Amino acid sequence: MPERFSDLCFGTRARHQISATATASVSFCGPQTRRSTTTVSKIGLIGLGTMGAMLSLNIAEHGFSIAVYNRTGAKTRAFFDNAGPLAPQITPTGSLEEFVAALEVPRKIILMVPAGAPVDEQIAALKPLLSPEDLIIDAGNANFHETNRRSAEAEGYQFMGIGVSGGEEGARFGPAIMGGGPEAAWKRVAPILEAIAAKYGETPCAAWFGPAGAGHFVKTVHNGIEYADMQLIAEVYGMMRDGMGMRAADCAPVFERWNEGPLESYLIDISARVAAASDPDTQKPMLDIILDRAGQKGTGRWTAIEAQQLGTPIPVIEAAVAARNMSAMLDDRRKGEAIFGAGPQTLPADALTLEDLEAALTAGKIMCYAQGFTLLARAGAEYGWDIPLDTVAQTWRAGCIIRSSMLNDMAQALSDHPNQSLLHSPAFSERIKSTEPALRKVTLTAIQNGIAVPALSGALAWFDTMRTARGPANMLQGQRDFFGAHGFERTDRDGGDYHGPWARFWE
Ligand code: 6PG
Repeated sequence: MPERFSDLCFGTRARHQISATATASVSFCGPQTRRSTTTVSKIGLIGLGTMGAMLSLNIAEHGFSIAVYNRTGAKTRAFFDNAGPLAPQITPTGSLEEFVAALEVPRKIILMVPAGAPVDEQIAALKPLLSPEDLIIDAGNANFHETNRRSAEAEGYQFMGIGVSGGEEGARFGPAIMGGGPEAAWKRVAPILEAIAAKYGETPCAAWFGPAGAGHFVKTVHNGIEYADMQLIAEVYGMMRDGMGMRAADCAPVFERWNEGPLESYLIDISARVAAASDPDTQKPMLDIILDRAGQKGTGRWTAIEAQQLGTPIPVIEAAVAARNMSAMLDDRRKGEAIFGAGPQTLPADALTLEDLEAALTAGKIMCYAQGFTLLARAGAEYGWDIPLDTVAQTWRAGCIIRSSMLNDMAQALSDHPNQSLLHSPAFSERIKSTEPALRKVTLTAIQNGIAVPALSGALAWFDTMRTARGPANMLQGQRDFFGAHGFERTDRDGGDYHGPWARFWE
């Protein structure tokens, strides 16, 4: 297996628990396979891609016997052959029938197959083999609408959808888990999920957020915030690189330093590591070699779509999704540069300090999270889910991609003030008061010097809008009434169907 796989299987965090001498290399068709027909496993997992494989090892390592199945038998074999000392906990199976027979009844089956049609195909294949109490858990990045549909379609078995965050390492050593589905079903699997989840202190980062698609909705918003958090960091890196002329190696210690302050987080930590890395082939800074065209699997886009559907503004997340899309338009950007000249100009020497950037990033981050939490509250009200925002923040404190020390403070603020915007909580309004001037300075400087900062400027525009009691939408209302007699409310009277003194075309 590739070195990276082995590292993840038995990496530094696991080594202390696993005897280095114990290895298993039983072939898929050997005695272990025969054992699978008689062994009763606590739980099963289908789909041994990287995430599924890592989650299986995590489950096995926590003392739960697990039966595994993959459409391609060779993958199951390779997985089992590399399971080392965890192999005795694992039952590899070569057919769905064998897999189902290997499970304790009522069965608990985790699906870790690609989102979309493969999930439906897997459920259809399993369905005839299951009993009404058996439980299918979709642990992939499903669109919550699909989880709602699959929950409604679940007949002859039970169904739940859980969001699992933390990438490969999280899956192996402790992800954050966002559960949705029947509460009784969650309770059945909670002991396993809580055991394998990341811990913040002693508290497992695993929680149930409501029926059907609630867990996948929370995961989607997590991913939207993930996009925004990453974009904000990228914009600040762009200011350092293009505006301040800093090399990647100069940026790395800045991120490292920030990781010891209010911005302490996994994403700042890995940004420091990315900035410090050299390309093994050319010895050049890795960042200088990586093409500026970002990929995406769509979960950030789903967040933006859902926010629009719910009429809840999340402009920082929307800007981040748009920025990824623009990053992919490389040819157009090259043409634009040829016609208009490169945007970014070097900043005057004293234009900005690194402290300004740190404070601007802090303000942007708080605003983005405030938007995400408001979206969760709105969705909870719309869909009848009780999503305690403080529990969401607690669940995100460890294991997931957006984990950060600030999330602990957010959990506290949302617990103290559950029904108001994070921005209005005393702890965060004070932070905003002290960091917003830097956000304004950085955004202004960027705009004046042709450096695109869509997420930072989106945050600032949102902030300025949301602290302006009388905005300019009276003009919109006047226009709407003018061309469509849509009516408006007045500032000086009650009621809502007044019209202006403009002549109608038919009059
Ligand atoms: C996580 C991540 C993960 C996501 C990747 C890639 O929480 O572990 O959100 O679920 O799939 O980050 O997402 P994109 O390809 O859309 O960037």
